[in-house]
Amino acid sequence: MITLDSIRKPVTAELAAFDEFVERQFTAEGELLSDMLRYALSSRGKGIRPLLVMLSAAMNASVPGAATGRRACLAAMLVEMIHVASLIHDDVIDEADTRRGKPSVNARWQSHKAVILGDYILARNMAIGLTSGQFDLVTHVCGSMAALCEGEVMQDECAETHDMTRRTYLDIIHKKTASLLGVSASAGALAVGATRDRVALMRRFGEALGMAFQMQDDILDYTLSAHTGKPANNDLREGKITLPLLAVLEKVSDERRAELIERLGRCRQDEASVEYLQCTVVNEGGLEAAAREMHAYLERAAGLLSEYEPSTYRTALVDLCAYIAERDR
Ligand code: FPP
Ligand code: MG
Repeated sequence: MITLDSIRKPVTAELAAFDEFVERQFTAEGELLSDMLRYALSSRGKGIRPLLVMLSAAMNASVPGAATGRRACLAAMLVEMIHVASLIHDDVIDEADTRRGKPSVNARWQSHKAVILGDYILARNMAIGLTSGQFDLVTHVCGSMAALCEGEVMQDECAETHDMTRRTYLDIIHKKTASLLGVSASAGALAVGATRDRVALMRRFGEALGMAFQMQDDILDYTLSAHTGKPANNDLREGKITLPLLAVLEKVSDERRAELIERLGRCRQDEASVEYLQCTVVNEGGLEAAAREMHAYLERAAGLLSEYEPSTYRTALVDLCAYIAERDR
């Protein structure tokens, strides 16, 4: 079993430099804002995005140690803080009470304060980035923020109409998740002065990894909540059609599809419908079908790395692909 700790190992120094950078740069004015910011930053989660930035920076660096430098730390901070802010806003939108097993910011301080905190994090992120003068990194990373919003709006519309196609699903997860992971991997390369081709290659790698990452998230939503720190079947309760259900809807008759969609419409208030749809997805192979598709993206991602010479960093990135498939949280 591959662990995140073993994947982090080759970039321990880089990640320590990143933590120290964030601690020093990311401060807030006023007691309440400082408290909220500290709370949000202390429960940051797995740190996949900074890890991706640092592994990519280290693998692409022509000078050893370049990835501990200021540009790599800045790139990692820019992507991670966009991610942190987007989850704070996401929990307001979803009215989620918990995040990673702890009260969400909106549950602890109310929604209006959570919205402001998310905005504040984005504003500080931008200010730190622009003040640093590293405009190429700021432009590269912050280009993904609009995609996140577009993905969120598309997802919201689809949850209201229950109208979902494979193309739309792939578009949504590309925008809401894969775009930022693509930007994380490519920003690491950009930070250490990699060629344009290598930056583009790393973007494709991160995007494929990100597609798989979100597919696994959507699979985990159908399973028990003990590890993820989120209640199971949240997506069904929110009316979302994600890959496991989509895979079932695609193969059933028109009549059965209409029946399942009708059930989905009742999930917000009817727990029996949630259970019915969950059992249907499990019994009709929806999870296996989604897992097959996720593995195809991971194979594509790992294959892209064959352009690089073998190194501990390349091995760690290949391991990260395997970890995405194995993870249970
Ligand atoms: C989590 O997805 C949410 C996202 C990946 C993106 C959310 C984006 C926004 C709210 C737009 C705001 C954007 C910025 C830049 C602040 P999920 O709901 O599937 O996952 P979850 O189960 O972890 O909540
Ligand atoms: Mg959510």
